[in-house]
Amino acid sequence: TSISVLKPPIKILVTGAAGQIGYAILPMIARGQMFGPDQPVIIHMLDISPASEALEGVKMELIDSALPLLRGVVATTDVVEACKGVNFAVMLAGFPRKEGMERKDVMSKNVAIYKAQASALEQHAAPNCKILVVANPANTNALILKEFAPSIPAKNITCLTRLDHNRALAQLSERLHVHIGDVKNVIIWGNHSSTQYPDANHAIVTTKDGEKSAKELVANDAWLKGEFISTVQQRGAAIIKARKLSSSLSAASAACDHMRDWILGTPEGTWVSMGVYSDGAYGIPAGLFYSFPVTCDKGEWRTVQGLTVDEFSRAKMEATAQELVEEKNLAYSCLN
Ligand code: LMR
Repeated sequence: TSISVLKPPIKILVTGAAGQIGYAILPMIARGQMFGPDQPVIIHMLDISPASEALEGVKMELIDSALPLLRGVVATTDVVEACKGVNFAVMLAGFPRKEGMERKDVMSKNVAIYKAQASALEQHAAPNCKILVVANPANTNALILKEFAPSIPAKNITCLTRLDHNRALAQLSERLHVHIGDVKNVIIWGNHSSTQYPDANHAIVTTKDGEKSAKELVANDAWLKGEFISTVQQRGAAIIKARKLSSSLSAASAACDHMRDWILGTPEGTWVSMGVYSDGAYGIPAGLFYSFPVTCDKGEWRTVQGLTVDEFSRAKMEATAQELVEEKNLAYSCLN
C-alpha cells in the first residue's frame, strides 16, 4: 500500500554527472532529498566521452545502493539522449579555469557548452522543464542557456546562490551560538562570485522570546559590514585552498535545497536566495541573471518586494550587477 501513495516518476538530467558534485548529489536525489520522499525519480546522467567509463561506474554504484525511489538510471555521453523528456535539469557541467588561462578562454568554452545544451534541452526536454545552473560562471551560463533556448520561459531557468545563502546562515549561527535552523532570511544579492553581496540586514533569529533581528543580536556593525561579508564571499576559495578541490558536498546540498524549495515551496515567512532573470526589481538592470530574495509556491518563484535598501547595500548591489554586465559582454564577445 505504501507504493500507491507515491507520485509517478519524474526524469532529472544531471550534466557533468561523473564529477565531484555529481558524486555527492546523485545519492541525495535518489534518496528524495531534492523532490521529497514520495517522489520516485529516473536520473539521466550526462558527461563527456573521456568520463564515460567513470560514469558507468557511478551508475553501477547507484544501482548497488538499492534505493527504492530510484526507478531508472541512464548514463550517456549523447546530449540528445540525456535531455529526452526530462522534467528537471541540474547543470553541473562546465569548463574549469586552469592555470594560465584567461577569463575569456574559460568563458568561450562555457559559452560553447551552454549553447549546445540549451538547444538540446529546448528540443528534447519535457514541456515546462525547470533548470538549475550550478557550474561557474553560473549566472552567465544561465544567461547563455536562456538566450539559446528561447522557447523555454526565462522563469524556468535559475542559477545557484543557495550555497552562499547557506554559508551566510552558517556564519550567523556560529557567531550567535544558535542552531542553524533558527536563522533565516539572509539575502545573497548578485553574482555567485566574490562580488556577491551577503546581506544580513533583514535576517531573523528565532529565540525562546520569539523572532529577533539578527542585526540587533549581533550588535556589531563592523563585523556585519566586514568579516561577515568577506568570509561568505571568500568561502569557495577557502575550500579550494583546503581541499585542493571546489566545494562539492555543500554545493550538492545547496542544489537540493534550491530545487526542493522551488518545487515544493518555501515555508511561510521564509525567503531564500536564487539567481533569477531580473525584471528590473530593486533597480537591478533587467536581462541579467542576478540573485534576489525569493519566495516559492507551487513551482513558481517570486521576488520579495519592498525591502529597504540603505546606501551601503545599494553600492554593493550595484557593484555585483556591474560585474555581471561585464561578464555578459564578455560572453557575447565569445559568440562572435
Ligand atoms: C564555490 O562557491 O564553492 C565555488 O563556486 C568556488 C569555485 O570557484 O569553484
